[in-house]
Amino acid sequence: MRYTLLACLILLPVGASAQVRLVPASPTLPRLPALPAAAQTAGVLEPSLSAEGAEVVPLSTLEGGEKLGDDQYRPSVGQPGKDVIWVPTPESLVKALLTAAKVTRNDYVVDLGSGDGRFPIAAARDFGARAHGIDYNGDMVALARRNADRAGVRTKVTFQRGDIFESDFSSASVVTLYLLPNLNLKLRPKILTMKPGTRVVSHAFDMGDWEPDETIRTDDATGYLWIVPAQLAGRWAFEVGNERFTATIVQTYQKLSTTGGPLNGGRVRGREVTFSLGGGRELTGELGETGLIGRGWTATRIGG
Ligand SMILES: C[S@@+](CC[C@H](N)C(=O)[O-])C[C@H]1O[C@@H](n2cnc3c(N)ncnc32)[C@H](O)[C@@H]1O
Repeated sequence: MRYTLLACLILLPVGASAQVRLVPASPTLPRLPALPAAAQTAGVLEPSLSAEGAEVVPLSTLEGGEKLGDDQYRPSVGQPGKDVIWVPTPESLVKALLTAAKVTRNDYVVDLGSGDGRFPIAAARDFGARAHGIDYNGDMVALARRNADRAGVRTKVTFQRGDIFESDFSSASVVTLYLLPNLNLKLRPKILTMKPGTRVVSHAFDMGDWEPDETIRTDDATGYLWIVPAQLAGRWAFEVGNERFTATIVQTYQKLSTTGGPLNGGRVRGREVTFSLGGGRELTGELGETGLIGRGWTATRIGG
């Protein structure tokens, strides 16, 4: 609990009132779940709130020799951002999260708060996707573009200087985040209206009571995956073999409960649905143009 709180403070909403103080590297530093272990062991952050403004000492490398920035711009881990400071996601977690999201060349990956561009660049370089990054800090956007050039993916990746809360990312098929719990919650209503099947991955922070579909752990960091569920709440007419019945689906994110029929609730993952019939029996199918359809069964919406 203490570490969770500290983690939230580390990626704190900044402004004139945030101070981030660097502390010496120490093997006894607690390993904070929200920070790359690399950043911790490099002696990175001890956050505190103060009216004196931000004080950030530049670090040019993370543990393992990862170089931050380039000759034109050297960002500092913990430097202020509009709503959250900059801390890079470890490359190992970037890869693990994009793998969990099953990114392919058909995807359009958008990183909200893209920092030095590592999520979009990896999505293009390692998974063949098109990708886009949005960051409020113009220096980070310029650095991300140069990083994309150096990685040879400039034709597949774009970056934009902008506020993620005022930008349209609705065409993304994969959204990547490393923000803060309250910022994730602020984005959540928009994310839930995205196309069913859109994958969302977040480094460290969850989405409140929208439970993740998967938790991804690397040696030094944790992330989560959500799959935007189709909206199925309402009244449906089912035909299952020779049986006909109506049922009302009540939906809480990806969890379904039903009243009025033999179904014992179920789950939705994008457009794919699974209902339990009891006795270990299941109905699996997906949402198509005309309703739910599976092998030997259909359901048609008859009310909202
Ligand atoms: C914790 S860093 C994550 C960087 C990158 N996504 C990663 O995982 O390595 C958060 C980034 O969000 C940016 N940021 C903060 N508030 C923002 C806002 N309202 N709109 C756009 N970018 C923002 C910061 O400048 C910073 O680069």
